[in-house]
Amino acid sequence: MTSTQYMLALDEGTTSTRALIIDHNGQIIADANREFRQYFPQPGWVEHDPIEIWNAVQSTIANVFIKSGIQPKQIAGIGITDQRETTVIWDKQTGLPIYHAVVWQSRQSNAIATELKNQGYEQMIHEKTGLTIDPYFSATKIRWILDHVKGAQQRAEKGELLFGTIDTWLTWKLTGGRSHVTDYTNASRTMLFNIHQLQWDEDILAALNIPKSLLPEVHGNAEIYGQTKDYHFYGSEVPIAGLVGDQQAALFGQLALKPGMVKNSYGTGAFLVMNTGTQAKLSQHNLLTTIGYSINGQVNYALEGSIFVAGSAIQWLRDGLKLVENAGETQRLAEKGGHNDQLYVVPAFTGLGAPYWDADARGGIFGITRQTNRNDLARATLQSLAFQTREVLDIMELDTGITIPELHVDGGATRNDYLMQFQADILNTPVHRAAILETTGLGAAYLAGLGVNFWANTDELQSITKLGQKYGPNMTETQRAKLYRGWQKAVAATQAFKP
Ligand code: G3P
Repeated sequence: MTSTQYMLALDEGTTSTRALIIDHNGQIIADANREFRQYFPQPGWVEHDPIEIWNAVQSTIANVFIKSGIQPKQIAGIGITDQRETTVIWDKQTGLPIYHAVVWQSRQSNAIATELKNQGYEQMIHEKTGLTIDPYFSATKIRWILDHVKGAQQRAEKGELLFGTIDTWLTWKLTGGRSHVTDYTNASRTMLFNIHQLQWDEDILAALNIPKSLLPEVHGNAEIYGQTKDYHFYGSEVPIAGLVGDQQAALFGQLALKPGMVKNSYGTGAFLVMNTGTQAKLSQHNLLTTIGYSINGQVNYALEGSIFVAGSAIQWLRDGLKLVENAGETQRLAEKGGHNDQLYVVPAFTGLGAPYWDADARGGIFGITRQTNRNDLARATLQSLAFQTREVLDIMELDTGITIPELHVDGGATRNDYLMQFQADILNTPVHRAAILETTGLGAAYLAGLGVNFWANTDELQSITKLGQKYGPNMTETQRAKLYRGWQKAVAATQAFKP
């Protein structure tokens, strides 16, 4: 491998698209990003325009080349990682989506999920897919689009339409429509994939009346899925060699490759993923069983706790309440706050994810006194990320019988020292921040790099991956118990409130 070659990672998050060029030492040489529009057509609905995402991807690829001076032909391979579950259906001939992308956060298919539960499918779906029936996953979103776009069901049955999560959509676009593929991690979030047999599940497809011809081929995480069409990649044909859902990408980017290792990424939501090795463990307490990654034909499973609102609660402080000008300011406010340390913000803006799975819950603020000020509100909002993390981590320990020795963390909010210290305090567990916070992009690059032999194996990846700062717990057990009891009461009150 010559030193002039690089990997390109495309990190397709919920609010922005990012392109990263990564060298052989795992260092980010250049990056470019672009936000795209969020559509909220009705309360609780969240949509994206897939063409806007595609345009944003093309412009970030162009920008990262311009910024770095690196040529497209110097790219050894591309890794794509994406916001999972978000559902696109498009016309095979024209390449045009038949509806907006229905985003993972969106609750618009709630009635379909409820209907499935009422029909008694809960246990069957849990056993086959590892998931809890919820509008979060792609299956009910596909059904919703087929129901709401005139003639869509018939066109799907005739084989005229294709479904994909964002990895599939972008691979299809980049390869000029030649590859309709996805990977095990993204497939495992559709609620249509049998994670034991590693194939689309006929019974679930029948229950939802979804034609199989819509679905992409499913592959491992580090292999060549297709080559870019030259006109979409500035004259070069480059292999797309890594596809992976963003939370699993972060697990891989953190090199949490041993059973029992856990990572938490604080993005729009927060997602805790625990590597459980080659056995799929079904949670007894409402966590999800999912595929962690698959390399060299070996599948590794994971337990996941999906928290819907984390970074977006901080965005709410900034954009909704206009309490701060930027996310970083919350640290200063939180450090000043605290004369009311039993103020709780439960940010259930789009329902509650793990372990409650309460799609109808809406947020609440509890414990306000006449002294409560914006410092306290910023502090309580930051603390809500840590409390939600504790809920999931406690259950992971319960489900697996493993005492988790430390939590590996990444994502934008981990820059916030106040949050990291409070996280370690409320968990009573050390919190270890990644040296490179773009762990998601790094994980996609690592996988694609294995797919094209840019890196030989995971030992080589270990040798180039560095760890960042560690936060040790520093709170009395009495204080920790008191604060956490208050949080549990606040969540119970939130759930009891159904306007
Ligand atoms: O399951 C949704 C998740 O993949 C979205 O991740 O980082 O965009 O919040 P993020």
